[in-house]
Amino acid sequence: MANKIAVEKAKSSKIEDVDFDNLSFGSVYSDHMLVCDYKDGEWKSPKVVPYQPITLDPSAKIFHYGQSIFEGMKAYKDENGKVWLFRPLENFKRLNKSAQRLAIPEIPESYFMDGLNTLIQLESDWIPQNPGSSLYIRPFVFASGNGFHASPADEYKFIIACAPSGAYFSGKVKVLIEETYSRAANGGVGYAKAGGNYAGQFYPTQLAAEKGYQQVIWTDDNTHEFIEEAGAMNVFVRINDTLMTAPTSDRILDGITRKSILDIAKDEGIETEVRKISVHELVEAAENGSLKEMFGAGTAAVVSPISGFGYHGKDYDLPDLEESYASLLKQRITDIQYNRAEDKFGWRHQVI
Ligand code: PLP
Ligand code: COI
Repeated sequence: MANKIAVEKAKSSKIEDVDFDNLSFGSVYSDHMLVCDYKDGEWKSPKVVPYQPITLDPSAKIFHYGQSIFEGMKAYKDENGKVWLFRPLENFKRLNKSAQRLAIPEIPESYFMDGLNTLIQLESDWIPQNPGSSLYIRPFVFASGNGFHASPADEYKFIIACAPSGAYFSGKVKVLIEETYSRAANGGVGYAKAGGNYAGQFYPTQLAAEKGYQQVIWTDDNTHEFIEEAGAMNVFVRINDTLMTAPTSDRILDGITRKSILDIAKDEGIETEVRKISVHELVEAAENGSLKEMFGAGTAAVVSPISGFGYHGKDYDLPDLEESYASLLKQRITDIQYNRAEDKFGWRHQVI
């Protein structure tokens, strides 16, 4: 039986102030959040409280040593008002994988799952129903314990906050293949959803933005010869009719969208390959016309087609396909997420 989560309701709702027809991504927040504190060697009971600021001591270790991890998920409302999550247990497991790598105490499964269900039930009015919109859910954990000593904190906070959101990208994405900077290294924290992984991307991404690119495609830190993933997405490449993506490693986030897209593609009879993809091969395929499409995949980005890539001072444009794998696979995954199609993989989780 699910644990009962204590709920303290907000005195009033902010929902009337929200323009649900013009939602950007992740910039307005719902009325409540889940909060759970780690103290005295254990996670205390989680509770749902009104969304509110947090007070921290300036010596809190999050500020100094960056012990911070997060997840990204979405709640979807179907046309009958039923509410769904997509593979939530995968996010729970990945949060604890990240926790282990950052020396953060792991969260009990029932605290995550029951807390999430209670929060989303309470916030169901905040789930937008406009096409392409959903309630973005951000579970995160950080070191709230104090001290300048460079060692793990003795106190942490686990919070889940929600933001009704529209699309992450407004159109096709132009990417730059990175030749100088690296996102992650062997033996590092690249596979974890650690806040610092994103901070480290901002400067190279700013440099790319100045040249007109929205995302960087990271390459392996050793040779910069093989593509890995983008800032907030795993990357897929279609050469002729084969769909390929890089294998996960300790440098790459094991994306839930990525593995779902691979399963759906196989189910569609599309030939898939999980293997190293060299920049050389990509450039050659772009030049001889066999590079048909590229797209990113992630919870926030869903399936985002790539319009072209820059490499070594040159731009390579991708064709505009009428029947792309990106649109087929996006349709199939969102039909499952929004309960518009049969869920043969058993990925949907009903909240209400
Ligand atoms: N890679 C990175 C660096 C990301 O931030 C994300 C987003 O979560 C992904 C890949 C895609 O992962 P998922 O599909 O689980 O959201
Ligand atoms: C997500 O897709 O949920 C992510 O975490 C991407 C994020 C960096 C916006």
